[in-house]
Amino acid sequence: MTEEAFDVLVVGSCMTDLVSQAPRLPKAGETIHGHKFFIGFGGKGANQCIQAARLGAKAAMVCKVGKDFFGDSYIQNFKDNGVHTEFVGQTSDAATGAASIIVNDEGENAIVIVAGANMLLGGEELQDALPALCRAKVLVCQLEISPQTSLQALRMARENHVKTVFNPAPAIPHLDPNFYRFSDVFCCNESEAELLTGSSVASVEDARRAGRELLRRGCGAVIVTLGPQGCVVLRAQESSSQHVPTSAVTAVDTTGAGDSFIGALAFYMAHYPVMPLEEMARRANQVAGVSVQAVGTQASYPFKKELPAELF
Ligand SMILES: Nc1ncnc2c1ncn2[C@@H]1O[C@H](COP(=O)(O)OP(=O)(O)OP(=O)(O)O)[C@@H](O)[C@H]1O
Ligand SMILES: *[C@@H]1O[C@H](CO)[C@@H](O)[C@H](O)[C@H]1NC(C)=O
Repeated sequence: MTEEAFDVLVVGSCMTDLVSQAPRLPKAGETIHGHKFFIGFGGKGANQCIQAARLGAKAAMVCKVGKDFFGDSYIQNFKDNGVHTEFVGQTSDAATGAASIIVNDEGENAIVIVAGANMLLGGEELQDALPALCRAKVLVCQLEISPQTSLQALRMARENHVKTVFNPAPAIPHLDPNFYRFSDVFCCNESEAELLTGSSVASVEDARRAGRELLRRGCGAVIVTLGPQGCVVLRAQESSSQHVPTSAVTAVDTTGAGDSFIGALAFYMAHYPVMPLEEMARRANQVAGVSVQAVGTQASYPFKKELPAELF
């Protein structure tokens, strides 16, 4: 099995979203009735991997879930999306990562995330996946697992000349400097750019400035995503930054748009290695733009067959 070369290997998180919709958020000790409940597949790593696979990438996930019902269903979800599951481990020492979400009628929410099994993904699992990691075209990491595990995966990729995409999400204020050095593409959103640089990011100009600062820390390229404004792309070899705008769409649910963008970017990097990064970003904007026009996280991620041929 490990002789196969993957386009995209994601080392990251899996989470089950347990969503209750209620008229308001309950107070401490209170029980209230909600009007809707649903279970969704989430976790930044898994979201990104599934978007890449839906575009046609040969994708594999390196992650850890619990030896429980949610872990079993997550593995089935990967299989249903064509993601290879050889490196999805199951542990009885922790539960599958879960996010309990309550949404009120105003759209505000209260969320408890229990990372669980995600935090048990470590060096041993990376060693098991090393033969596949070495030969993958692109490695993608985030920060919903132990940061040391993400950093080790990025280091292994770098040592083996595998291209890396790092998404510092959720952002931590003092990121190990090696995260920048091991990132071929460092891709974050406005709030992450703000937290990492310490200055406010609310406009294209701010994003260019923050991007330049992040680039100075040693990344090969930086992308700052800007919601309906698309993104800003900066490359180490050039002194200029490019704003890549996106077409206006009617957004109904932007949850997971950032992960759709990163999954698409990883797909383009693997399939079109000589395509300019700005063009990949332009196409990733289009893919993520489709995802905001439907409800749900993975449920809103488009498949290759649903997208215009010019994106391929
Ligand atoms: N309203 C929108 N219209 C068109 N495209 C959008 C819109 N919102 C997001 N996108 C697309 O999704 C990409 C990522 O969005 P954003 O910068 O909001 O990431 P994010 O904050 O990480 O997303 P989220 O936290 O909602 O998952 C943008 O670069 C853009 O391509
Ligand atoms: C950026 O992503 C984080 C998740 O890491 C999210 O909480 C935050 O709302 C996003 N910021 C914007 C401006 O969308």
